[in-house]
Amino acid sequence: MRIVRDPAEMARLTERWRGRGERLGFVPTMGALHAGHASLIRRARASDRRVAVSIFVNPTQFGPKEDLSRYPRPFAADARLCRKEGVDALFHPAPAAMYPPGSSTFVVVEGLSDVLCGANRPGHFRGVATVVLKLFNIVRPDDAYFGEKDYQQLVVIRRMVRDLDLPVRIVGCPIVREPDGLAMSSRNAYLRPSHRALAPLIHAGLSAAARGGRSAGGVVAMARRRLAAIPEAELDYAALVDPDTLAPARTVRPGLRLLAAVRIGRTRLIDNVIIS
Ligand code: PAF
Repeated sequence: MRIVRDPAEMARLTERWRGRGERLGFVPTMGALHAGHASLIRRARASDRRVAVSIFVNPTQFGPKEDLSRYPRPFAADARLCRKEGVDALFHPAPAAMYPPGSSTFVVVEGLSDVLCGANRPGHFRGVATVVLKLFNIVRPDDAYFGEKDYQQLVVIRRMVRDLDLPVRIVGCPIVREPDGLAMSSRNAYLRPSHRALAPLIHAGLSAAARGGRSAGGVVAMARRRLAAIPEAELDYAALVDPDTLAPARTVRPGLRLLAAVRIGRTRLIDNVIIS
């Protein structure tokens, strides 16, 4: 596995693969890799001749009071996981290589970026869309793989790709859960044991509401009730939305997404389930 820090070198490497007609799958990450990331890499391995992973803790998607400085960066363990999963190239640029002094261009996916998680994290999706577009321009993948846990992020990226005619196929991959239902996330490491024990109640509450509500309002009300009842938790939002536009649903139908963000202690967790 090649570890590449220089964007120009990464671009040259993938250019060589493209020249040989080798299909390239790309898994962009911020590191602290877990089984959810491994499932994205395996999905890429199944479809693409070459697989590249990026590890870049992107400063532009963190708010001033968020966890940029304490975000976990276990690079050696991450590289081991990538090697074990058969990754061909691991792109690990320095912040100054991605954002040279004077960088002032951003991508904003209007309408999708300031609702739900975006309402509480102003600028977050602007940072995500900007870095993902930059990574796509450097890596030029055929396919890019994103987890459905960050469902709004997936919708924002799909829209950006469509609106800007980017030649990449976006593949959404199912959420990977711990045995007790907690969605895998790099931020789960922040949870102290008593909060970790409460965290699976998020998925349990969403699943119960998705099964039990008879109307759109009923589903959302039940989700809010269940999530607000988790001890030491603060509900940020629960919403039943159209899977492509994130518009609030007026009636229940299969395929809608029930999304939520909940803060347990200082850790903000997100999760979602599909209405089946
Ligand atoms: O989901 C993530 O890990 C990040 O938001 C991403 C897509 C790598 C952009 O920094």
